Amino acid sequence: MKVVNQISELRGEISRARQAGRSVGLVPTMGALHNGHLSLIEEAAHRNDFIVVSIFVNPTQFNDPSDLERYPRDLDADLQILGQQTADIVFAPDVKEMYPEKDKRNFDLSPLDKVMEGKFRPGHFKGVAQIVTKLFDAVTPDRAYFGQKDFQQLAIIRKIAGQSEQEIEIIGCPIIREPDGLAMSSRNVLLTPDQRKAAPLIYQTLVEAKKRQSSYSPVEITEWVTGTINAHPLMQVEYFEIVDEQELMPVTEWGLHVNKVGCIAVHLGRVRLIDNVYFD
Ligand code: PAJ
Repeated sequence: MKVVNQISELRGEISRARQAGRSVGLVPTMGALHNGHLSLIEEAAHRNDFIVVSIFVNPTQFNDPSDLERYPRDLDADLQILGQQTADIVFAPDVKEMYPEKDKRNFDLSPLDKVMEGKFRPGHFKGVAQIVTKLFDAVTPDRAYFGQKDFQQLAIIRKIAGQSEQEIEIIGCPIIREPDGLAMSSRNVLLTPDQRKAAPLIYQTLVEAKKRQSSYSPVEITEWVTGTINAHPLMQVEYFEIVDEQELMPVTEWGLHVNKVGCIAVHLGRVRLIDNVYFD
């Protein structure tokens, strides 16, 4: 495993791998690695000969400066974890390398960026699109791996890849959870012990909501989920929406759409967690 900080060096490594006939898989991350990230690397290793893992806390996707400041960073610990994995290259650039000048690009992500995360984190997906297109351009992967935990991000990245001239297969990977059901997230380390104890209620409520699906309408389920989580003194729901998988449009009747996902964002103090489940 080689750690590379510069795009020019990265390109050199990739072109050597290409010359040797190797396929390239990319796993973009912001570090503070956990088993969710590692599951993407494992998945990438099944189908690619050469794996690039990027670690870059991308400032342009943080709409809240204090969130960017608090975001956990520990490159040494990450490299130690990656040492046990099948990554060939760890690409860990600094901000100047990725943004030598201000990125003024806009992207046509509508309507996917108008709802849920897009509504509450203005500019977030533009920042994600900026960094992901830069990474695609630098790595030119055959396949890129993203988690379903960030469900809306995955839908948006599929759209970006569809608009690009590069042919990149986008692979969505299942959510990896703690034994108590909490979706793994780099932000979980920011929870106080009390918040951490409370946090599994998010997934428990989503699972319970699924069980109630046959007896209640989407609107009733939405109210029930929001009310149940808000009843906990440490939690505040930002949104819970049941949307169709492709367009992320609100589901008003179960029968109208084939694939339906309930997506949630919850504040626990200053920490904001997201999760989602498929409905039947
Ligand atoms: P980050 O939050 O570090 O996540 C990197 C990748 O890991 C994303 O594709 C995310 O969906 C996936 N992931 C996170 N938690 C997961 C879990 N519990 N199970 C499965 N996959 C999980 O998402 C980002 O970084 C950034 O927005 C990025 C795409 C790197 C662009 O900056």
